[in-house]
Amino acid sequence: MSVQRESMHGMWSGRLAFILAATGSAVGLGNIWKFPYIAGENGGGAFVLLYLFCIALIGIPIMMSEVMLGRRGRQNPINTMRTLALEENARPSWHWLGWMGVIAGILILSYYSVIAGWALSYFKDAVFGTFDGISAETAGSHFGGLVGSWWVLLLWHTLFMMMTMFVVSKGVRGGLERAVTLLMPALLVLLLIMVGYAMKSGAFAQGMSFLFDADFSKLSPESALTAMGHAFFTLSLGMGAIMVYGSYLPEKVSISKAVISIALADTAVALLAGMAIFPIVFANGLEPGSGPGLIFTTLPIAFGQMPFGVIFASLFFLLLIFAAWSSAISLVEPAVAWLIEKTHISRLRASVLMGLLTWFIGIGTVFSFNIWAEAKVSGKTFFDWMDYLTANVMLPFGGVLIAIFAAWVMRKESSSDELKMGAMGYSLWRFLTRYLAIICVLIVMMKVTGLLDLVLAKAGL
Ligand code: PHE
Repeated sequence: MSVQRESMHGMWSGRLAFILAATGSAVGLGNIWKFPYIAGENGGGAFVLLYLFCIALIGIPIMMSEVMLGRRGRQNPINTMRTLALEENARPSWHWLGWMGVIAGILILSYYSVIAGWALSYFKDAVFGTFDGISAETAGSHFGGLVGSWWVLLLWHTLFMMMTMFVVSKGVRGGLERAVTLLMPALLVLLLIMVGYAMKSGAFAQGMSFLFDADFSKLSPESALTAMGHAFFTLSLGMGAIMVYGSYLPEKVSISKAVISIALADTAVALLAGMAIFPIVFANGLEPGSGPGLIFTTLPIAFGQMPFGVIFASLFFLLLIFAAWSSAISLVEPAVAWLIEKTHISRLRASVLMGLLTWFIGIGTVFSFNIWAEAKVSGKTFFDWMDYLTANVMLPFGGVLIAIFAAWVMRKESSSDELKMGAMGYSLWRFLTRYLAIICVLIVMMKVTGLLDLVLAKAGL
């Protein structure tokens, strides 16, 4: 039986608008900033392979589930989960899943905005030709200079938060839907140009083999968790962003086809970013595992050497800002939609309140790179903890709960009615979601916590 509910926040104009918005959410700092540096820190090839495996077999089925729940519930993730749980005769406490997502979104945005601030600052530098002929050393000290100064970081973080909340306050459809249409293809073209440059930089083969030669001895349980967590992060899964976007999706659109296009685009951007960056890393004798500063210390060197480098550098950082911007709005949209539905205050007010809260938490990340750089708990700074807890714990955990709800709690009639797929496709989705996705996530989590070894030892294996 088809359920007819309406979203009080409006609807996407159609299939393409949804694909663009969700791709805008998925493609972001995760692809261009985070993927290369975590691949670098975790030894490359084997990590990348595992990440691709997670995207295909865990990410896609869970993304379909999340869009499906959103479209059926047509409210913010908290109310959607409550409504659907009641409809399926399950406990209303499923709404806690929505809560966890709303909180994860705010926590992620709090540090995401600080990193996006780096991109803002680098855009300014690029326009002024700061990277012209820059050496590897100067590039390193330039980055160190930026992150070492807390008030500069705070300024850029504040600016990025204002940009984000401005768009969210206008409603998603007004500005961003249009901007993303143009900017995502432009980003792709620019990345291809960068890869073209990397091919000539002398170390292309070395870069490619780092990225694609899988040596599984380099893979620890921790890096398996990072690869899986990143699959959730990069597809914006497990926290309700995709659910909220699904709640604005018109009835007729095929969820499976849309989701596959989104995942393909997202993966392409990440791989291209890796192919552009690692050859430059090796050609300049830099460290692939140098951490969060990786693209900010390598790319300027490339831009500094290429003809029309000033133009390409400015364009690149501008597009990176847009990619981050379209992701950032999806990170707070669940919280803002909830606040509006709950209190009926205006969208503007709700945006200001959530923006202030997120901005405030972000100050912790700002300090993590300077005055709190040495204030570590178990070897991790405030920023490291935020990133670890959200990407490696909350998102996979949220993802598993979404899978459990979609494939175990929800009746077959409801999910097949909403997914509207052929029999084969539907069975495949259900199998992957019901078993594979859930089991994989649980195994990795148990391995990291040491629980798996304990169970295996008990079983005498
Ligand atoms: N997918 C975004 C990126 O890769 C980040 C994000 C995570 C956005 C979760 C929304 C929800 O940059």
